[in-house]
Amino acid sequence: MTALLAVEQLGKSFGGLRAVADLSLEVPRGCVAGLMGPNGAGKTTVINLLSGLLRPDHGHIRLDGVPIEALPAHEIAARGIARTYQNVRLFAGLTALEQVIAGCFLQRGASLLASLLGLPAARAAQRRVRARAMELLAQVGMAARAEQLAETLSYGEQRRIEIARALGAEPRLLLLDEPTAGMNAAESEAIGRLVHRLRDSGVTVLMVEHNVRLITAFCDRVSVMNFGRALVHGTPAACMAHPGVQEAYFGRRDDAARIQALR
Ligand SMILES: Nc1ncnc2c1ncn2[C@@H]1O[C@H](COP(=O)(O)OP(=O)(O)OP(=O)(O)O)[C@@H](O)[C@H]1O
Ligand SMILES: [Mg+2]
Repeated sequence: MTALLAVEQLGKSFGGLRAVADLSLEVPRGCVAGLMGPNGAGKTTVINLLSGLLRPDHGHIRLDGVPIEALPAHEIAARGIARTYQNVRLFAGLTALEQVIAGCFLQRGASLLASLLGLPAARAAQRRVRARAMELLAQVGMAARAEQLAETLSYGEQRRIEIARALGAEPRLLLLDEPTAGMNAAESEAIGRLVHRLRDSGVTVLMVEHNVRLITAFCDRVSVMNFGRALVHGTPAACMAHPGVQEAYFGRRDDAARIQALR
């Protein structure tokens, strides 16, 4: 069966730096896949390439067999890839609910003119979108915060709002870039359970994550990168035991925190 996401020989350089170098990986439909690697390995660049924020120098990205590497970001979003950002990017001045409503409109809103004129069809659509946004907030455990301005929320809460906003676009593939950064163990665990629920409801997830316990407990498969290349793909246990992975993490002084996480 065709993988939902297939990346082939993907490459992206910034000046002389090969951030992603001939990377190939597959994410089967209906799984939670982890993307690991030390600082600067190229993980965020991969997410930026997959979501169309960056254009690859070479290589292919196929969603359900269809090449998407040449498409602009909004077209890729329309085809079912949604994402969150390593550094949370919410809209200033909007409430939690409004952030998620904005995410819903990205995919399926009524026409702008109809909304401006307040036509009945638009009002009905707005009610539906609002109800869906509330549902999504509840799904990420943030229903009680719906009316709060996003900037007044904790970092972990803002990350959850961002996930809900991404889900508003009804993605087939959800890309999460370090979704548990800044969260405590209980909050991280809740994100793990959330991605499992999403998977079970038909959303395939690719997440950049450093927390080995979380990866082991919640990812069906893992790809580990180093210096822009894939080191190994496989089950979390097989990847963690791989000598190249151990070396990639343990061989670097600036990854002390992550070394700790590996133990
Ligand atoms: N827009 C850019 N311009 C120039 N260099 C960049 C740019 N984006 C990323 N890089 C460089 O590409 C390399 C890979 O960066 P990337 O952010 O993809 O790594 P990462 O694996 O996400 O790291 P981290 O774990 O720190 O988030 C790094 O050396 C980084 O400095
Ligand atoms: Mg990154």
